Amino acid sequence: MNILAIETTCDETAIAILKSDSKRGAKIISNIVSSQIKIHAPFGGVVPSLAKREHQKNLIPILELSLKNTGLISELKTKEKNIISSSQIKKIENILKRDGELKEKTIEFIKKYKKPKIDLLSIAYGPGLEPSLWTGINLVRALSYFWNIPIEKVNHLEAHILANWLPPNNLPKKSDFPIVALLVSGGHTQLILIKEIGKYRIIGETRDDAAGECFDKTARLLGLGYPGGPAISKEAEKWMAKISEKNIESNIKLPRPMMRDKSFDFSFSGLKTATLYLIEKLKKDGVRFSPSKIREIANEIQSAIIDVLVYKTIKAAGKYKAKKILLAGGVAANKKLRDKMKEYIKNNLPNVKFNYPEIKYSTDNGAMIAIATYFHQKYNYPQSATWQRLRANGNLRLSNLR
Ligand code: KG4
Ligand code: ZN
Repeated sequence: MNILAIETTCDETAIAILKSDSKRGAKIISNIVSSQIKIHAPFGGVVPSLAKREHQKNLIPILELSLKNTGLISELKTKEKNIISSSQIKKIENILKRDGELKEKTIEFIKKYKKPKIDLLSIAYGPGLEPSLWTGINLVRALSYFWNIPIEKVNHLEAHILANWLPPNNLPKKSDFPIVALLVSGGHTQLILIKEIGKYRIIGETRDDAAGECFDKTARLLGLGYPGGPAISKEAEKWMAKISEKNIESNIKLPRPMMRDKSFDFSFSGLKTATLYLIEKLKKDGVRFSPSKIREIANEIQSAIIDVLVYKTIKAAGKYKAKKILLAGGVAANKKLRDKMKEYIKNNLPNVKFNYPEIKYSTDNGAMIAIATYFHQKYNYPQSATWQRLRANGNLRLSNLR
């Protein structure tokens, strides 16, 4: 079975192909991510209308590359072209009527090629930015209509979690459950209890900003680049290297919001405000914002975020008797978070296993949508959709899918 998976929930245009058969299992045979970071960086965050325009521009070239590189598509001979009826064209134009150049590109593409060897189209239908979501969704609807290939819809958050099993290997074992997953992305910070694949319960979440958002906003306050997570962590690493050489103590202190609170919820907006006040106070005191001072503050921001994330995850894993802890989402790419979580698990819950996705599978990608689709089939909880009815859901929540 060949699954073609598309991800356009935010600012990465990504397509992956997963091939599976009963003998050899599953394999990602293509995984292309086109990042829009350069386009959004000057604005210090994702601009939805620009994200949509980039998806419209890039989807077909990436689709063409994915299918050609894997040999799953071949061109029609000149005399076979134009076998599309005008009513089919009209329908496709209607599906893609709000999608600018994607409409022309899609029609050109399907005129040029034979039906590809794809058995299932899959798409992240939420949560995310609605303009971005709709672009990928409308392309999938048009392709499903024209090629008559079924659609599987995927919750982007489930996909982030299942990226822990990429590239498909070491499939989940009964003895791994229950699992506690810390899902930390640009839009979400949640602790999720997983009884088995497909059964998800949110046991705690942020009451305001997400952890990734806090990295992004505080990075902006420090004049660091976008996205803020990697920028802050790079500066923090430089600070750590300096203090390990020179034995310096920092007197910069930021709060650890809700760390001692009984619930498993988080709150990160106060940390952003505290950083703002800290910067203002230092300025008033005449402190020079040298690169070293910025690194020192970046390090404290990173430590504050990570301390809370690690402390609450360990507490949740203890309470729910987790056998395994997972990290998921863009912030899971943070090395300090991975290292600190590993250390705390070793010291506090030595029998609990720990896993996080490879960096390229932590931030948004198509392979995670593909493996979620594969798991839906393998563990028997398909989430089918039709091209007529599929809709974006920007606020989609993670819940039991079986
Ligand atoms: O999962 P993701 O790629 O997109 C969403 O679904 O939101 O997560 C993006 C977030 C951004 O806020 C970014 O700053 C953060 O992940 N991020 C990091 C790192 N790499 C990406 N945060 C901390 N450390 C990193 N190395
Ligand atoms: Zn994401």
